[in-house]
Amino acid sequence: MVPLFLLASLFALPADTFGAPTDAVPGSGRAISLLRRNQSPRDVTEWGALAKNQRDNLLAKYGSPTVQKRSSGYNLIVDQLYDSSYYGSLAIGTPAVSFDVILDTGSSDLWVAGSSCGTSCGSSPTYNPASSSTFQNLSTAFNIQYGSGAAEGYDAQDLVQMAGFSVSSQGFAVVDTVSQNLLTSPVSGLLGLAWQSIASSGQMPLWQALASGNVWDSALFGVQLNRYTNDSTAQELEPGGVLNMGYTNSSLYTGSIDYIDIPGTPSYWYIPLTSLTVQGTSISITSGTTAAIDTGTTNIAGPASSIQAIYAQIPNSQPATGEWVGYYSFPCSTTVNVELSFGGNTWSISPADFAFTQTSSTECIGAFFEASTGTGSPSWIIGDAFLKNVYSVFRYNPPSVGFASLSSVAIAENGAGGTVPSATIGTVSATVTNTSDAPRGRALSASLSTLVFLAVSALLL
Ligand SMILES: *[C@@H]1O[C@H](CO)[C@@H](O)[C@H](O)[C@H]1NC(C)=O
Ligand SMILES: *[C@@H]1O[C@H](CO)[C@@H](O)[C@H](O)[C@H]1NC(C)=O
Ligand SMILES: *[C@@H]1O[C@H](CO)[C@@H](O)[C@H](O)[C@H]1NC(C)=O
Ligand SMILES: *[C@@H]1O[C@H](CO)[C@@H](O)[C@H](O)[C@H]1NC(C)=O
Repeated sequence: MVPLFLLASLFALPADTFGAPTDAVPGSGRAISLLRRNQSPRDVTEWGALAKNQRDNLLAKYGSPTVQKRSSGYNLIVDQLYDSSYYGSLAIGTPAVSFDVILDTGSSDLWVAGSSCGTSCGSSPTYNPASSSTFQNLSTAFNIQYGSGAAEGYDAQDLVQMAGFSVSSQGFAVVDTVSQNLLTSPVSGLLGLAWQSIASSGQMPLWQALASGNVWDSALFGVQLNRYTNDSTAQELEPGGVLNMGYTNSSLYTGSIDYIDIPGTPSYWYIPLTSLTVQGTSISITSGTTAAIDTGTTNIAGPASSIQAIYAQIPNSQPATGEWVGYYSFPCSTTVNVELSFGGNTWSISPADFAFTQTSSTECIGAFFEASTGTGSPSWIIGDAFLKNVYSVFRYNPPSVGFASLSSVAIAENGAGGTVPSATIGTVSATVTNTSDAPRGRALSASLSTLVFLAVSALLL
């Protein structure tokens, strides 16, 4: 029963198709912001060619991958506002300046508030292009739409560093207008972790540059997210888990990783949703249904008929009203168990995550809500309410999403408190090299305490 601020549904979908709820919740200052985009995405068939070009160019410049050292690194995540959003940190520019960014596997653009952003960026730290000697202005307009607003600015490139990796001329957007509620300080922007084919800017996402550049030990990243939603002592910022880049951390999961291939051209991280049970009863799922796995969405969205069927299994549940339209309320005294399968193992959502928030002494709001998505888009959006219950892996090749059971070590991090990772630095002393004999470690200065420096810095295109 913690107050919530639902900032986080940052999932890109066509604007004309993704319905309510997108508005502020009365009395709480919450906004349910579903990211959506007006423009149609780049032709999804282009991604493969682009990825291949990227890789071929890199190999032509730097030689065979067999002589290239590979590496891995991790970024500690912050849980903002009781599991509403999860952010990490990266550094941009020369000299490098660090920023906190929402980690969003549901979209593909990196953007940060620029110093030209006035009051609309609130007190979020901003990026100053004039202070970076490696800033390049692409001078094309950038615009991404969210359910509750938009971020606008221009496309650019600069040196971007994260978790010990360094990418020169990384595409991103400098944002100078942002709608209220999209940024909650200290967050300055968003890191899209889905595929280039759906990047509004058309530019290759950071993760994809690293994966296709063959610098990771394994071409994948893993995510573990902590739970604070049912911890009444939680602070606004808590340790949020970890983003493992280029490897999976076997201390955080048990058993094997159950990979499900993306059934088509990668765009979102979408996989089939094959079964869903509520209180042990199966809900009918249309064959061919797909679900996007989205760290940037707080809850879980699905088609109205399926959501109705879920709550039909929960006595005394009912559609919520007012600005909660699309959501359902149910008696908080009911322990709700939901299980999902994507074609392999079956995964449980904890009752704590199902009981998203409490609206009265007896009524709770469930994490599953109704939203209809556009033709060709995944009809389910599986957000953090599910992802807190598993270790998730996002694999480049073959393009797939994997899940594994959390280890007791990972589970013990839920509600454990501790020190919130901080990204408050002024400069990073980057050791960037384009040779295969890059020194290990020290890719970033030690003051960037959220990062580890296991990595050989990789200079990419
Ligand atoms: C980059 O280009 C855009 C579009 O021409 C312009 O509005 C912006 O001021 C430029 N930024 C800098 C730092 O020059
Ligand atoms: C793996 O996770 C454990 C538990 O959080 C941590 O102590 C360890 O440092 C991690 N190792 C790597 C290489 O990420
Ligand atoms: C929060 O929920 C989890 C999962 O259901 C449970 O294991 C944990 O004990 C709960 N924590 C509190 C403080 O109630
Ligand atoms: C690679 O590094 C060397 C030595 O610093 C430099 O001379 C060369 O121009 C670099 N090559 C590229 C493609 O950046």
